[in-house]
Amino acid sequence: MSTLPIITLPAQASSSDGCEGTSTGSLEVATLNSDDLAAAASGDSASDVVKTQAGTALSPDEQGAPGQRDHNGKLYIETVGCQMNMLDSELVVAALRREGYELTSQPDDADTILFNTCSVREHAEHKIYSALGRLKHARKQRPQQVIGVMGCMAQKDQSLIFDRAPHVDIVVGTGQMAEIPGLIKNARKDRERALAVSLDRKAGTRREVSASFQSYDPLREPEMRPSPYQAFVRIMFGCDKFCTYCVVPMTRGPEQSRLPSEILAEVAHLAGQGVKEVTLLGQTVNSYKCVENGKTWRLSDLLAAMHETPGMLRFKFVTSYPRDMTDDLLMALRDLPKCSHYIHVPLQHGCDDVLSRMKRGYTTAHYREMHQRIKEYLPHSAVSSDFIVGFCGETEESHQKSLEAIREYRFKNSFIFKYSERPGTKAQSLFRDDIPDDVKKRRNQELLELQNEISEEDNAAFIGREVEVLVEGPSKNAIKKADSSLKEQLTGRTRCDRIVVFDGNPRLAGSLAQVVVHDVTPTTLVGSILTREVQHGSSSLLPILV
Ligand code: 5AD
Ligand code: SF4
Repeated sequence: MSTLPIITLPAQASSSDGCEGTSTGSLEVATLNSDDLAAAASGDSASDVVKTQAGTALSPDEQGAPGQRDHNGKLYIETVGCQMNMLDSELVVAALRREGYELTSQPDDADTILFNTCSVREHAEHKIYSALGRLKHARKQRPQQVIGVMGCMAQKDQSLIFDRAPHVDIVVGTGQMAEIPGLIKNARKDRERALAVSLDRKAGTRREVSASFQSYDPLREPEMRPSPYQAFVRIMFGCDKFCTYCVVPMTRGPEQSRLPSEILAEVAHLAGQGVKEVTLLGQTVNSYKCVENGKTWRLSDLLAAMHETPGMLRFKFVTSYPRDMTDDLLMALRDLPKCSHYIHVPLQHGCDDVLSRMKRGYTTAHYREMHQRIKEYLPHSAVSSDFIVGFCGETEESHQKSLEAIREYRFKNSFIFKYSERPGTKAQSLFRDDIPDDVKKRRNQELLELQNEISEEDNAAFIGREVEVLVEGPSKNAIKKADSSLKEQLTGRTRCDRIVVFDGNPRLAGSLAQVVVHDVTPTTLVGSILTREVQHGSSSLLPILV
């Protein structure tokens, strides 16, 4: 295991002048640079370096029984961003629950508050800084409280977070999540601030930088997952594509694939806990490549191996990169019945000039060729995309090409984003963010409306058809109503990832059900269940009244 660049800082007096203010100049961390971090990483920093081993659990003595400890044991965590962040939060919560913490949905109740952050767009960062600002006064009344900022914004802004929100105690980057329990404990005990981040991409050799972004995927406990039947498994972390608009290569570090043996053990472990559906995660998940014991593993090999796991019903993966959609992967999806026929493979833009400025590494012709191959191997598959509108220099004509692409590919759905200039990206230094916000908004709306029309039309083709649904549990409506009646609205997904809602017994959760569709919206199929008896789990046949 590598030595971690963790630097502790003396706590600043809490009379500081506000969250949004500029630096008070009193923080020693303001001078922290990549040399400090490199020195800390190599273990010979003159700085005050604290090292905590990943997964180190505090003994019950250290932790304190509820009556003895110096905090109320309540943890509030807010997560912004992608599935990677959801997984990281789940793992951090699991580690803290093992140490006696319990979750609360009320920040006012919590002596420990964590924000798991996203830096992909500025708006996501604003939300976090505003939330931090709201905590400033309450923090003064609670000297025992620890506030932590973790994830992408922590890695990107580092000590700037202490400048903007001086009441924050710990800042923990994406590669240092395992340190969180120890850092919280130290922060509470010594009232010292701590910054735990990985090396800058240019602060060392690739090996050194990669090592500073630790994989954090300890084995989990079933009750930590949002749904007992579904789990995320990270197979890669980091990204080397360096699209000009994107901060992820900086915030998540170099692309690294996890060992197949580790991944397969995690999947088997999850199956043993009753998980039925695994979603494999990676920034460019289909670029997965790892050599273990002389054998090169690609995503297709991983899927084939995990397909044998008893009890598992479905495998999905997100997010794919268009140039790495190889035939072996498409054949695996065609031949392995538990694989979802859903591929999220972002085009980002319909115009070659824009794609080139984005440095996406492909043209619209490449994407078309890839899309044709998907449809040849998997004629009934669903493809979805991300789009960015208002990227630097986007003309009305180039925007029209994104609309044309949505018409051409008839994506199941598209995630559409207004371009947000990000510090440290190539786009920021090379181009001017020259599209006014009202134009970005209008273009966003145009893409959204067209996509919704297409989604609704394509969903309508399902009316009268029977679909196989992996049941997830009560729908959002049912949860809101908290209806205790036996029959309630359930939700699940088809093999192509279409959301289906229907009335049924909540005990169907985690099993496959046949549903006939009788109505649709752009996002949802509405149906009635046909199944009378379902196989629940791998070994028992349970008759379920539907
Ligand atoms: N501005 C807007 N959208 C962005 N994305 C990534 N970076 C930016 C940015 N600077 C979008 C891309 C990516 C998705 C996760 O977020 O579409 O696929
Ligand atoms: Fe960002 Fe591009 Fe990497 Fe996706 S592939 S994470 S958009 S740099």
